[in-house]
Amino acid sequence: MSYNLTVDSVNEEKEEFVVTPYGVQGEVDYDVLVERFGTKRIDQDLLARLAKHGPLHHMLRRQIFYSQRDLEWILDEYDKGNKFVLYTGRGPSGPIHLGHLMPWAFTKYLQDVFKVKLWFQMTDDEKFMFYEHLTLEETKRWAYENALDIIALGFDPELTNIFLDSEYIKTMYPTAIRAAKKINFSTIRAVFGFDNSNNIGSIFFTSIQTVPCFLESMEQGRKVPCLIPCGIDQDPHFRITRDIAEGLGYYKPALIHAKLMPSLAGSEKMSTSTGADTTIFTTDEMKTVRRKVMDAFTGGRVSVDEQKKLGGEPDMCSVYAYHKYFFEPDDGKLAQLHADCGSGKLLCGECKQRLFEKVWDFVDEHQRKREKAKDIVDEFFVRD
Ligand code: TRP
Repeated sequence: MSYNLTVDSVNEEKEEFVVTPYGVQGEVDYDVLVERFGTKRIDQDLLARLAKHGPLHHMLRRQIFYSQRDLEWILDEYDKGNKFVLYTGRGPSGPIHLGHLMPWAFTKYLQDVFKVKLWFQMTDDEKFMFYEHLTLEETKRWAYENALDIIALGFDPELTNIFLDSEYIKTMYPTAIRAAKKINFSTIRAVFGFDNSNNIGSIFFTSIQTVPCFLESMEQGRKVPCLIPCGIDQDPHFRITRDIAEGLGYYKPALIHAKLMPSLAGSEKMSTSTGADTTIFTTDEMKTVRRKVMDAFTGGRVSVDEQKKLGGEPDMCSVYAYHKYFFEPDDGKLAQLHADCGSGKLLCGECKQRLFEKVWDFVDEHQRKREKAKDIVDEFFVRD
């Protein structure tokens, strides 16, 4: 079978960009990022291997999850009967938006396809230490709020452990300090771009994000492979983890990386910091969702006449990006949308209306599941 692996970005001159877990600047060139970070692209062979386990998720077919470390090895081990565990996380600093849900929906797909356990870390400590305006009480409260959104996605309670760092620290601490002893300040400074003004908690933090890679191994008393689905901005943490893992007696964690979902303003990362009007929160009301979609940045022309003549530019349109990342899983329909936009047949108003209907269907249903999640949260949490 063959998959269409076209490269999204044309290799024209682009402004400098920087990607770290603590901020994204400039316009990200994801092909350049793979080279810079030293990861590998998910190629045809890997897609074919993944397709043997279940229908390929649209985020794989469309190269939204597009990069990896040691994914072949994870599949080799799985094929030999040695199951991996999944590990991902959330920095609980505020409400959940659709860009956050994207990699978690994919994580749920992996859990379903491979029937594997998931460790889900809530870094209430991290967000407290990195954000001047947040108290520890607030980040803990957000962690519990955010857990409802995670549970609403339908993770299997039998196979999913969610924990807050501040509540699971007794289990994690011995491994955290073993990790910390192997990481130099100069590495942290270089990898995250820190300077003398960063507080010492933030310098230590990467050792806390390292530990969950090994929780299953710690629990079982043997080395268990671990696969981390995450936004590629988190890779710097795990590069450090991978350097020290074997020295601690564990396997290096494998990774599968996603591109960052664009905001409705058209920038690369959908972030709460780009403004509440350009992100859709899972708790937004219908009229708010409608307004945000209708106000979104598009690849439309200055006038309807111009657009009918020249066509729209779907590849720079945030509305098209939403269809592509999340809301139009059917490749045929997505291609039709792309063609109809490019030919000037489909105008922005109609396209936004279609998107709004899909987004609201999803959000409305999600809100119901989120309410139900309140009854079962305890089945998911692990604490010391
Ligand atoms: N640091 C991440 C954030 O700020 C949260 C996180 C913790 C995470 N562990 C992870 C994300 C593992 C991906 C994978 O959002």
